[in-house]
Amino acid sequence: MSFASRLSVIARTAPNKNALLGRLLRWQAIALLLLITSVCVTLYFGLVTQSSWIDDQTMEKRYLTVRSILNSENERDIWLAHEVSEDMEGPRRIFVRVLLDGAVLQETPDMSAVLPSEALPRMRANQEVARGFVTSGAGRRFRVMVAEAPVVMNGAPRTAVTQIAIDTTLDEMVLRRFEAMTVIVAILALAAAALLSALQFARLLEPLERMTRDIGKIDPNRLNTRIETTGMTDELAALGGQFNAMLDRLNHAYQGLRQYADNVAHEIRTPLNKLILGLNVAEQKPRSPEEYEALVGQLSENCRELSTLVERLLFLARVSSGQTGIRRQLVDVQIEAETIGDLYSASASDAGVRLTVTPGESVAVSADRALLQRAITNLVSNAIAHTPAGGEVRLSAWQAGDAAVIEVSDTGEGIAPADLPFVFDRFYRADPGRTSSGRVGLGLPIAKSIVDLHDGTISLERAPGGGACARIALPVAGARATVRREETAGAI
Ligand SMILES: Nc1ncnc2c1ncn2[C@@H]1O[C@H](COP(=O)(O)OP(=O)(O)O)[C@@H](O)[C@H]1O
Ligand SMILES: [Mg+2]
Repeated sequence: MSFASRLSVIARTAPNKNALLGRLLRWQAIALLLLITSVCVTLYFGLVTQSSWIDDQTMEKRYLTVRSILNSENERDIWLAHEVSEDMEGPRRIFVRVLLDGAVLQETPDMSAVLPSEALPRMRANQEVARGFVTSGAGRRFRVMVAEAPVVMNGAPRTAVTQIAIDTTLDEMVLRRFEAMTVIVAILALAAAALLSALQFARLLEPLERMTRDIGKIDPNRLNTRIETTGMTDELAALGGQFNAMLDRLNHAYQGLRQYADNVAHEIRTPLNKLILGLNVAEQKPRSPEEYEALVGQLSENCRELSTLVERLLFLARVSSGQTGIRRQLVDVQIEAETIGDLYSASASDAGVRLTVTPGESVAVSADRALLQRAITNLVSNAIAHTPAGGEVRLSAWQAGDAAVIEVSDTGEGIAPADLPFVFDRFYRADPGRTSSGRVGLGLPIAKSIVDLHDGTISLERAPGGGACARIALPVAGARATVRREETAGAI
């Protein structure tokens, strides 16, 4: 991302109240302002306190010298005159005045003009030292100290008051300069930090803009588009990764739906074509009543095929979308196995297949009986259809832990390992060429949707001795219950 384009992103988004960049910058500016202000205020007051402290130390030293001179009899006036006249010139002038019982004993020349005695703070009772600031008539500020101490002069006790003042003009100047410099530095630092952060933020947010643009281009025909996550921060890369994974899932589902729609159209076309062909044959020339009878029989067979297909598709759609209201009741899977065994014994013997039900204990599950019977019959009809004459189909039910297992095994042709992963896909037939009409590859998907609806599992595998073995496992009902045999009659 070029510098110019980053600037354009900043100009576009920063003023926007809701834009992330704008918010980040505003909060950062507030944080920086607080930081800079607190640093400057601390430094400023540090400087003010420091210079007052230095002034106080200087005055304290002066005062101690004055007091020691006052207490020594030896050439006191000469020393005092010398002491009060020191540092009276220059930018940090010091004025000293000594009052003895209220009358001026010695003072720095000019002091009475600049700072008369009344201008300095008065001592309160029992106070030894008073400090503060005083502004002279000429507008100069002084740091002052007034100290009172008893002295002994010529053997008599007296009260001496020492007034000391330091011209703080120099300190004031330093402080003013510091103030000006602080304001300039703070403004520059704030501006520089805002610009640098804005550039950095824009760089960090640029992938988000790119992502938004890329996502905007995705439509159902471009579901294989992927978000480029290289160079993104971890958080954005994770978002992009999740988005790509979602696209994968959507793409997979969408392709499945397209395939499903193609398959549906294809499956409906076959019986429809047969119908049209039959009608064309009837239209070509007058036929004998026997020929018409045969034709009507064939046409109604084609119609039944079509209607069965549509019924199965609708049923599958309802079950797999959970639209079918499931009416749970206690169902004994052993009894169901026996009922279905009875029901299919005729069609099994027509196909020359022996259908047996393994005797076993009753196992109750909480299920929709009609749906469960449909799932089991789909397995049984598959087993009979794929078992050559002379073979056997066995139905068994038992309890394994918390699961009720219903198994349909056969000694038929079995199933190739390559087909196993797909047998539950809609319209999947291992050998479409060989399967008879009416077998469109929806039996196992319907069984699976029903089992899913009951929180169970279903599997189809090769039986150890050849043939196939289909198994449904459902959670056993909390309470074992005896389900009466008569209740199951006619539920299919
Ligand atoms: N018992 C079985 N033995 C061998 N193959 C089976 C058995 N049950 C199912 N299959 C295979 O699984 C495919 C899907 O079964 P299904 O969904 O019931 O469809 P359909 O029975 O309509 O062909 C079948 O076409 C068949 O190839
Ligand atoms: Mg089937």
